[in-house]
This record gives sequence, C-alpha cells and structure tokens, in this order.
Amino acid sequence: MKIKSADFVMSNSKVESCPKEPLPEYAFIGRSNVGKSSLINMLTQRKNLAKTSGRPGKTQLINHFKINGNWFLVDLPGYGYARVSKKAKKTFQKYITDYFRRRRQLVCAFVLIDIRHEPQKIDLEFMQWLGENMIPFCIVFTKADKLKPAVVATKVDQYQNALLQDVWEEVPSSFVTSSTKGTGRDELLSYISELNRQ
Ligand code: GTP
Ligand code: MG
Repeated sequence: MKIKSADFVMSNSKVESCPKEPLPEYAFIGRSNVGKSSLINMLTQRKNLAKTSGRPGKTQLINHFKINGNWFLVDLPGYGYARVSKKAKKTFQKYITDYFRRRRQLVCAFVLIDIRHEPQKIDLEFMQWLGENMIPFCIVFTKADKLKPAVVATKVDQYQNALLQDVWEEVPSSFVTSSTKGTGRDELLSYISELNRQ
C-alpha cells in the first residue's frame, strides 16, 4: 500500500472524545520505549509525525493519525515502565484499557515486543487480557537491527514457544520490524491493506 497522506488528527485522554468517523483503525501498544511511535513514523515515512524519545513515557495520550484519508493509526502510551511514576502508570493503564474495551472502530491491535528481550510477564498478561476481551491482535517484534539476522529468527521461535507454553493454543501472526532500517514495512502495510478491504 502506498501512503499518500498521513495527518495528525487529535490527542485524547478519553476514548469518548476520539474521532467519531467509522473508519477502520489499528492501535500500537506495548511497553514504554519499545518503539510504538517510531514504528508509526517508519510506516508513514514521516520523520516526526509521532513524537519519539529515548526516555520512556513520551506518549501520554491516545493519538489518532489519519492515513490516506480513510483509516487510522493510533499511538498509545506505553505500559509497565518502572521509571514512570505510579500515578502516571495508573492513568496510562486506564486510557489503555478503556480504549481497547470501548473502541468499536479498532480492527486489530499490534502488540510491540523488543526482540532482544526474553518473554516478559507484563506482555504475556496483556496479550491474555486482549484474548479474554476478544480483541484481535498481532505481535510486532521491534528493533531487529540490534541483532544479527540468525539471532532474530531464534528469538522469534523462542517467543512463539513461550506463548504456546503459556495459554495459547495458536500463535498470533507476528512481524519483525526495524524502524531505523524500514524492515517489515511492506509486510505490515500489506496486512493492514488486506484487513481494510474486508
Ligand atoms: P513511549 O511513548 O514512551 O511509550 O515509547 P515508544 O514505544 O513510543 O518508543 P519510541 O518510538 O519513542 O522509541 C523509543 C526509543 O527507541 C527511541 O530512542 C527510538 O529511537 C528507539 N527505537 C525505536 N524503534 C527502534 C528500532 O527499530 N531500532 C532502533 N535501533 N531503535 C529504535
Ligand atoms: Mg510513544
């Protein structure tokens, strides 16, 4: 899919105030600093569309970006980072759970996982929660440029095995990405384009 336009629409702390148009949308979620905002910039090829930072806790609201005038990408605050204050963590948690529970336009959530890390309880629990709430999701491994390709493949296998040993009978679709190198861009955009057609 070609990205012809990518426009910031609005930031919200409440899901009720998000855009009312019944357009398909895709949300990026995961631990703070995993690379959600960077991935939105990589997919849209707009350097500063979503604000990024080396310090966790940069994205603090629900941010809607309209793509090609007919679908949305949504950047969310991260969860579970120790250096964010307890109060901020609670607030982010509420935005996130409200958003996922109530946003009817959501077609698929992309759960971002730093490919370098071993499976973490907080991510496994979050995916379990999505499953229990019947929210469709995929896994996006980020920062693949930080590892050698052979190690990337091993890490993906290890992660999928961990999911199978957890509660999952089937492994969700997954993508390997690098926002610095553009890895996975075509695959993710094709996936979204296919869902947009349904
Ligand atoms: P919060 O908004 O705080 O939840 O973080 P986020 O998940 O939006 O992460 P963000 O995109 O702000 O990126 C965090 C840091 O990781 C920044 O320093 C990015 O430059 C870096 N980063 C993100 N994606 C990649 C990647 O694919 N490769 C490399 N090498 N660095 C990345
Ligand atoms: Mg962010």
